[in-house]
Amino acid sequence: MSAQTPASESSAPAAAPRPRLLTGDTPTGQLHIGHYVGSVRRRVELQDTHESYILLANMHAFTTRAEDPDGIRRDTIEIVRDYLAMGLDPEKCAIFVQTEVPAISELTFLFSMLLPFNRVMRNPTLKDELQVKGLAETYSFGFPLYAVGQTADILAFRAHSVPVGEDQIPHIELTREVARRFNQLYCGVDPHAEDEEHESLGGVFPVPTADVGSVGRLVGTDGVNKMSKSLGNTIFVTDTPKQIRKKIGGIYTGRQSMTEPGDVGNALFDYVRTFIPDPERVAELERRYAAGDDIGDGHVKVEVAEAIAELLEPMKERRAKYEGNDDAILEILRDGCIRANRLAEETLALAKDAARLKYFDRELRYV
Ligand code: TRP
Repeated sequence: MSAQTPASESSAPAAAPRPRLLTGDTPTGQLHIGHYVGSVRRRVELQDTHESYILLANMHAFTTRAEDPDGIRRDTIEIVRDYLAMGLDPEKCAIFVQTEVPAISELTFLFSMLLPFNRVMRNPTLKDELQVKGLAETYSFGFPLYAVGQTADILAFRAHSVPVGEDQIPHIELTREVARRFNQLYCGVDPHAEDEEHESLGGVFPVPTADVGSVGRLVGTDGVNKMSKSLGNTIFVTDTPKQIRKKIGGIYTGRQSMTEPGDVGNALFDYVRTFIPDPERVAELERRYAAGDDIGDGHVKVEVAEAIAELLEPMKERRAKYEGNDDAILEILRDGCIRANRLAEETLALAKDAARLKYFDRELRYV
């Protein structure tokens, strides 16, 4: 049998289809190093092994900034510059704009019928946002809807994997529930089926998993909260070494002297472990700090700041190539949107067919 296998087949077996991933960001401003270590770095690795779709959640940005459409548009373009700077390759992944993929909105409406309202409101990430952003009684109807929309972002691409930061896990859990429910209701998948079996049992949607990077959450330079633009505790790709030194210098540790035994669980040492690439150096710094072995916080801070500046240097160079050139960015987005729609339209047709909503075939194209 094997002797008859043609040479071409044995030397180059048909490649198995790559697993698909979808992830994205809400354009709320420039990306910072928290985004990089929390998720973009992982995407850069995965773009070689996965069919990758990266979404700019510009509709979601309207949940908190509906009065600033120009700002949202500007940030949407700016974030692509940061992606390219951080190493995402538009040849390898489709980078696209949420609102240019209508299948997402259509699926959002359908999925919103499959989720109890109370279930959506129990989402701890939504609750946190309401609190942190002080939205209390003033949030829009669309605010909780965005969580449903996120399930559609993911499922429109029948993604298997969703690389995200830790704070997004509740959204992925909601997505898994929608996928299971849809497959059970409309595709005849048995309620006791394992998640991994849904596709092979005829479900339209795989039940996706969250892929949380090794640093799920980077503490901000305030040393307390998650790094977040709205809290002003960030380091941006575009920051100069001087700005970085200043920001890192501001991390409060409460330690008084070079000989005081320090707490290596503090925010400064989170940075040491995240950004100093040499594990032996990290271990050495930890040992000396914990022992109060003649090592000042200022010293550690300088070393951390240098490591971050070094990491950002090649990113800045890449970013500079696209500075002031919005047309090049739009071209990348256009290509990404075309690829995204190809898949999302196919998914929508399958979903509509399953839910008995499909009457006609349709085609979508940009002119
Ligand atoms: N909610 C995410 C954030 O603010 C962005 C996002 C929107 C997303 N849709 C997504 C992330 C789908 C992963 C998958 O960071």
